[in-house]
Amino acid sequence: MSDLLPLDEPATPVLLEGVAPPPPPDPLDALIAAQPAGHSLFRGLYNDEAAFARDMERIFGRHWVLAGHESRAKEPGQWFTVEMGGESVIIVRGRDGALRAFANVCRHRGSRICLNEQGKSATLTCPYHAWVYNLDGSIRSARHMGEGFEKARYGLKPVALETAAGLVFVSLADKPLDFSVAKAAIDAAFGAYGWGDAKVARREVYRVEANWKLAVENYLECYHCGPSHPEYSKLHALEQPLHQIAAMNAEMIGRTAAMGVNVPEIDARVGSETGQAPVFVFRYALYDGVKSGGPDGEPVAPLMGDFSDYDGGVTSCHFAPSSFFIAYPDHGVLYRFIPVDAKSSAMELVWLVRGDAEEGRDYNLERLTWLWRVTTEADKRITEDNQKGVNSRFYEPGPYAPVEPNAINWVAWYLAEIARA
Ligand code: FES
Ligand SMILES: [Fe+2]
Repeated sequence: MSDLLPLDEPATPVLLEGVAPPPPPDPLDALIAAQPAGHSLFRGLYNDEAAFARDMERIFGRHWVLAGHESRAKEPGQWFTVEMGGESVIIVRGRDGALRAFANVCRHRGSRICLNEQGKSATLTCPYHAWVYNLDGSIRSARHMGEGFEKARYGLKPVALETAAGLVFVSLADKPLDFSVAKAAIDAAFGAYGWGDAKVARREVYRVEANWKLAVENYLECYHCGPSHPEYSKLHALEQPLHQIAAMNAEMIGRTAAMGVNVPEIDARVGSETGQAPVFVFRYALYDGVKSGGPDGEPVAPLMGDFSDYDGGVTSCHFAPSSFFIAYPDHGVLYRFIPVDAKSSAMELVWLVRGDAEEGRDYNLERLTWLWRVTTEADKRITEDNQKGVNSRFYEPGPYAPVEPNAINWVAWYLAEIARA
């Protein structure tokens, strides 16, 4: 008699007394394990509620994200809110000048406290039963709560906050990843562009009917730039053969150095198992003669930071998982991808200019915002079309092109993050 079981008869696990059987495998983990490398994701990883919940836990619950520019809360009492997949965080400047972040959740019965995107107030008052919080999160007053009410126990829950080169980052994690490498990299590169003293010239939020990862993947590759972004492709040389890009970049970096400006690059796209926040700062050249992102490649605002001239280059930062920013010598653009639910997201764009620049005198908003507005409108459309295709019964993961290395790297990083408990 053979001790081999017939193939169609699953083995019955032998249970030892007092030992619990292993839990059944999580279908999401099985999907992650089966995902082919170098390909777009399985539909379930975009569309399923379980995948969205995993994203909120292991990506947005673990990583730092860009919240905005400090100038939105410059004075004591100024605040703004940031949303992420159902969570909301208040960023507020205290009377002591410190910037703090709190969960936008009242400690009475949980109402949202700040209902608007931004504001200025002496205190933060919950609209439901009017508990009043000081700007440092402590309770100021809680009506009719009686003698024994211990105010000290019910301050707003703090959220980790860091700043670098005027940018504000928050982390929902209980034990946030070490931000020091990212801070040094962002301070050095974007500090050279004077972002610490910049101001927000314009902010736009585009609702995108697509999973946030489709929007991020689209941002990360320029394979689509030729067909989809004729405006962008006239100014930015990202779609050229790699050796040509390398030569143009070397010339551009020489021009930056000749001006006495130091913009260090770094590639630290690490996983969270290192305990560190990932950051990638790199530079690339614009086409010959192109100075900035204006309609004709011309300047759009006064020079910023250490720049005394245009170097024909751009500095870009990919700050995992979903925050991106780019600097031209005369303006900056922040790009945030915000998950809303499994099949919708938002793209927030922020244009930065020198802090003392005045609209009408120093810059024209139309010219300043033109390039990334038309680019983002096109990105919204192509990403939504992408989602429609992913929803189809005929969709299956397709291979990335070799000219999409940032998207390939990001997807591999993402899969490792959501696989790791
Ligand atoms: S929920 Fe905020 S005061 Fe009641
Ligand atoms: Fe695009």
